Amino acid sequence: NEEKNLIYKGIPLPKAVHSAESLKFAEDFQVRDDDVFVVTYPKSGTTWMQEIVPVILSGGDLSPIQTIPNWDRMPWLEETRAPLLLDARPSPRGIVTHLPYQLMPSSFSQSKAKVIYVTRNPKDVLVSSFHFHGMATFLEEPGTFEEFMEKFLAGKLFFGKWCDHVKGWRSSELKERILYVTYEEMLEDLRGAVVKFSRFLGRPLSEEAVDRIVEKSGFESMKNNAMSNYSLVPGEVFNKEKSQFLRKGGVSGDWRNHFSAANEERFNSVYREEMKDTDFKFSWDE
Ligand code: PPS
Repeated sequence: NEEKNLIYKGIPLPKAVHSAESLKFAEDFQVRDDDVFVVTYPKSGTTWMQEIVPVILSGGDLSPIQTIPNWDRMPWLEETRAPLLLDARPSPRGIVTHLPYQLMPSSFSQSKAKVIYVTRNPKDVLVSSFHFHGMATFLEEPGTFEEFMEKFLAGKLFFGKWCDHVKGWRSSELKERILYVTYEEMLEDLRGAVVKFSRFLGRPLSEEAVDRIVEKSGFESMKNNAMSNYSLVPGEVFNKEKSQFLRKGGVSGDWRNHFSAANEERFNSVYREEMKDTDFKFSWDE
């Protein structure tokens, strides 16, 4: 763990793609008013949004998703490639980040940059992350499902606790600058979500452009898009025999195939305690 992660302000981050310099870059980043941020806790729909938002920003032109790998098309603010990609990029820039709210660049809060915050059922996030830790060789070995769940609940995995991430972003005072969406809502009505994003971003699209985006950002389409399915990443980095990056998607509730009754009880009790003072409800909350 210590070997593979660095600790940034109390939060573990994989060293393979984060460094003291890249985190300093993120801290000092000059946010532009027309920047568009997609913020996610890992495994909540980042790659999906990297397929949708660039095409909204291009007015429906598909070339970004046909020619640029997702990590360069809509780069992570905190990762080592960001300085290479973001400073010189013309506006409007699409940027993804897993950073907790309190670690956003200091220029962010005063800017007018918009944010789409995607939340996913944390049990499915945990399962997705478990498989991802099995295949990504730069992450610590997941161990047993129970062990992994305890690390997830304790915030020992990348980007800390799911609950803290969600609570921080949900209680942000960004008002009309932030749009909250869930992965599950996107699964249920992708077209509705795309239209909502385009309106929120002030970038109206033709019906045909919306149709194109919906078609291209479907799970099966993305699985077949070499620019988005991580097939360009060598096998030493992503062991695809263990899991695909686009693994199960297209369904919600895969957690039911992984959690025992005891796991569910344990998870629920921690989750309830962490979320007890919040004033928002998700579809997965009972
Ligand atoms: S990461 O590592 O944080 O960037 O991962 P992230 O992209 O946030 O999450 C990966 C999960 O998102 C699923 N995914 C999709 N689901 C439905 N439709 C589409 N188009 C789509 N694209 C990505 C992906 O399959 C991972 O979830 P699991 O449950 O592991 O399949």
